[in-house]
Amino acid sequence: MAGATGQTGRRVVEQLRRKGINVRAGVRDVKKAQSLGLAVPGGSSTGSVTLVEFDVTAPLDNIVAAIGNADAVVYVLLSYHHTRTWEAHMAGV
Ligand SMILES: NC(=O)c1ccc[n+]([C@@H]2O[C@H](COP(=O)([O-])OP(=O)(O)OC[C@H]3O[C@@H](n4cnc5c(N)ncnc54)[C@H](OP(=O)(O)O)[C@@H]3O)[C@@H](O)[C@H]2O)c1
Repeated sequence: MAGATGQTGRRVVEQLRRKGINVRAGVRDVKKAQSLGLAVPGGSSTGSVTLVEFDVTAPLDNIVAAIGNADAVVYVLLSYHHTRTWEAHMAGV
């Protein structure tokens, strides 16, 4: 989940978690994400949220490491510029 600390991303994380989906929340600032209460353990019917360092401008290897073994990527960053950067990265995957 890219953009997990954002207005949209936080809501998406919460909805996924409530559906029992374990989320890897990609964040630039782990301390900020912790202060937002983003990281939570899974429950009997809810998914967990694990924080992973993620910056879309980082080298591709870092991005691949942040994605890990995820089944899907949800990307809700802000700008066209970032989207273009992401597309450029993904073209090399
Ligand atoms: N808010 C809405 O009502 C709404 C509605 C429909 C669609 N959208 C769309 O959803 C998208 C996100 O909007 P938003 O309002 O949620 O924005 P936002 O609150 O500003 O969140 C942006 C997110 O992107 C992250 N981010 C920025 N630069 C990054 C980078 N280089 N690497 C990794 N993460 C980075 C931010 O992380 P940090 O916390 O580290 O800054 C934050 O998590 C936009 O495309 C917007 O058009 C928003």
